[in-house]
Amino acid sequence: MGVSTAFRCKVTAVPITMERGAGPCFYDVDGNEFIDYGLAWGPLIVGNNHPQLSQAITEQLARGYTFGAQHRGETVLAEKMVSLLPGVDRVIFSNTGSEAVQAALRLARGFTGREKFIKFEGHYNGWLNNVLVSSHPQPEQFGKTVGDCGGQPEAEYSLTVTCPWNNLAALEQVFRDNPGQIAAVIGEPILVNGGSCMPNEGYLAAMIELCREHGAVSIFDEVITGFRIALGGAREYFGLQPDLSVYAKAMGGGFSISAVGGRREVFDALLDGRTGHFGTYNGNPISVAAAIATIDILSEPGTFERIHRHGYALREAMESAAKENGVTLVTSGTGAAFHVHFGLQRPPRCIREAMQADQAIGDRFRERLFERGLYCLPAGRWYVGAAHGEEQLQQATGAIREAMQGL
Ligand SMILES: Cc1ncc(COP(=O)(O)O)c(C=O)c1O
Repeated sequence: MGVSTAFRCKVTAVPITMERGAGPCFYDVDGNEFIDYGLAWGPLIVGNNHPQLSQAITEQLARGYTFGAQHRGETVLAEKMVSLLPGVDRVIFSNTGSEAVQAALRLARGFTGREKFIKFEGHYNGWLNNVLVSSHPQPEQFGKTVGDCGGQPEAEYSLTVTCPWNNLAALEQVFRDNPGQIAAVIGEPILVNGGSCMPNEGYLAAMIELCREHGAVSIFDEVITGFRIALGGAREYFGLQPDLSVYAKAMGGGFSISAVGGRREVFDALLDGRTGHFGTYNGNPISVAAAIATIDILSEPGTFERIHRHGYALREAMESAAKENGVTLVTSGTGAAFHVHFGLQRPPRCIREAMQADQAIGDRFRERLFERGLYCLPAGRWYVGAAHGEEQLQQATGAIREAMQGL
């Protein structure tokens, strides 16, 4: 279908091909301008072609592309992360979110000596066989562990235990059913991939505590929330410290880099040889330079307040335009990453509730926004970044009001 990842098939009704980006906008090959509320599915947190980021890359290009050996940037980046991310003592680098999730799971298994892990229904933790299960389950598949696409042998997810999210009793039950066998629990702290569902009060803290009680490693998959909902990601936003967190997307500002960070003792499993971590491009200097520059740009005071304010203003614009036009709609998530759900009366708390939204109206709304120069992602997902300003907000709220009429 002319796309490089299957997720891109359904983004626009007609296929469009990009030519260039600039700040909060990008341009297709026909010269159409779009305000970018997709941020390349998350990475472009500081916008397209940020001058400071471009300069950092250009300077690194002159020094070398990749060394296959240690370089200064790795230390600079690791020290920044350790100082910014609460409870992160050590980090390791890899290239994509999918890879870093696997590195975290392997660390947890090496650390605990156990094999099974728990992942949550409706959560997406990358495309590899052991985690690409029950991410978008059909109702008849609720409560089961099922592969999300063909070509996934059952044996490769036989050690994955799926559990409903935001349901403490269900998690306790899974621990009881698998005594002494669970190496880790991995989950998105905000279920962005399943409709930007917020965690119930106390749920994440209880998940971390349950892991401690049962000797399992708690893992936040912060591929989306990291460096987006706060500089310190979900750890800062919720004031919580799981054993490990996984970072990617926004961390590299558009370049391919990911990391696992967390508690010192868990990483001892790497130091003493209980497990290993590999990858030719791990810590490659271009991506590392991009990550350092991105974090520096995001560290400017007021950045996250601005991002959230912009996002909440968009949400408010949609909610009030819907009310004026007699359209039922709710929004959920934060200002930096959120979902719009047509047909729902209250924000969903898990994938099962999010799936009740009316996708057909959502798609029509998105098409109308697209015709008015707003580029948004399928299923009502919006990302807001540091490059979105007052001008984009004015244009977007005008487009939202028009698009909602007669929907
Ligand atoms: C929460 C989460 N984890 C992991 C991944 C996988 O990351 P990548 O696509 O970089 O492999 C994604 C990608 O969307 C994600 O949203």
